[in-house]
Amino acid sequence: MKLRQWTTVGVVAVLTVAALNTVPATAGRPYDPTAQSLGALGLRHGLQVGTAVNMDALNDAGDPQYRALASSEFTSVTAENVMKWEVLEPTRGTYDWAAADQLIDFAKRNRQSVRGHVLVWHNQLPAWLTSGVADGSINKQELRELLRKHITTVANRYKGKIWQWDVVNEAVSDPWDTPSTLHYKGFWAENLGPGYIADAFRWARAADPKALLFYNDYNIEAFGSGNPADDKTQFVYEMTRGLRAQGVPIDGVGSQGHLGTQYGNFDTLQVTAALKKFSGLGVATAFTEVDVRSQMTAGVQAGNAEEINPRLQASAANFSVLMKACLAVRSCLSYTVWGFSDRHSWVPDWFDDPPEGLATIYDENYQPKRAYQELKSDLILAGPPYVQPRSTPRPRR
Ligand code: G3I
Repeated sequence: MKLRQWTTVGVVAVLTVAALNTVPATAGRPYDPTAQSLGALGLRHGLQVGTAVNMDALNDAGDPQYRALASSEFTSVTAENVMKWEVLEPTRGTYDWAAADQLIDFAKRNRQSVRGHVLVWHNQLPAWLTSGVADGSINKQELRELLRKHITTVANRYKGKIWQWDVVNEAVSDPWDTPSTLHYKGFWAENLGPGYIADAFRWARAADPKALLFYNDYNIEAFGSGNPADDKTQFVYEMTRGLRAQGVPIDGVGSQGHLGTQYGNFDTLQVTAALKKFSGLGVATAFTEVDVRSQMTAGVQAGNAEEINPRLQASAANFSVLMKACLAVRSCLSYTVWGFSDRHSWVPDWFDDPPEGLATIYDENYQPKRAYQELKSDLILAGPPYVQPRSTPRPRR
């Protein structure tokens, strides 16, 4: 090898070591990336690694590890429930901001970004609203005005404190719904028509000029047939393209990432292709609610390692598929897990027949699982030259 070539190798080597050692060695100890938090390792790529926060667990003095990990392991937080309408306005005109404000303060203290979840969703709506519509005391015009007021009030209150808002969540049906042909579903589409989606983004933008405004949904990790009649990802893609064409201020699409090891799921190239296709529309992407659950067979519940180990490994592999795809696409701005410990996961309550669980990256005793280690290695090994800064769009006017 000629001298010039050796020199080049030398330069790259120096750069690599320099990049790896951007974090100063502490107390003479060499920099050990495996000792870094997921959040810190994400920042090497400009990627926010986050978690949903359960405020009851955060405030539970008897569960200090929850708060310790929520504050130290992640650079972004999402309210699991306390920014939802039923919590913020339990009775009409009376707001309860306490828990949401507390999360904002917690994030500020820990220098974490906040993903706002959620301005418009068909679930967890206050009873006064749904019963008012059901008994006709709230007509369509009033309902639309109530929606505008809710979005404006909430987005205004947290202006400048929210990095990304889930403006509209889960507005599209699934192939198992009736009719099976994909369509706009739920309370808001049924009462106001699909036009509420564009309205919601415009009202959110008017209230907060800086937040990145996202559409958020599940089962959109990869494209299927490419026919919007049965391919939800294609439906959401065409919806987003349509909104952009109308000049609606949608800045991003969030893929929740609720997976199960019993399903076929996707490989890294399929997910990367989907992220790239969405970024072709000029929108950012994010994984917003990642967990990978497994069926809790009698053997698993009995602690049978031969049944548990394949599930933990399959779960880890699926967490990693989404992380690798996100790292590979610069418009993918954040990777948020939907709860980080099996001690506090929505899965066992929701999927109870047959029972499912083991969905997060730490076990019930806050011990890191294979999934945690695989996410960490993805963030470390995707090193130079694969470290890619993120490309964040300007909030659309
Ligand atoms: O707050 C009440 C409490 O007062 C009551 O004692 C208790 C017992 O019934 O219920 C509590 O409300 C529960 C709430 O979580 C807060 O813990 C609801 O029953 C329960 O249904 C609700 O579940 C949440 C679920 O959304 C509701 O749809 C989960 O924690 C939350 O993880 C889940 O999150 C959703 C995302 O927002 C959107 N994407 C899917 C994701 C998983 O379903």
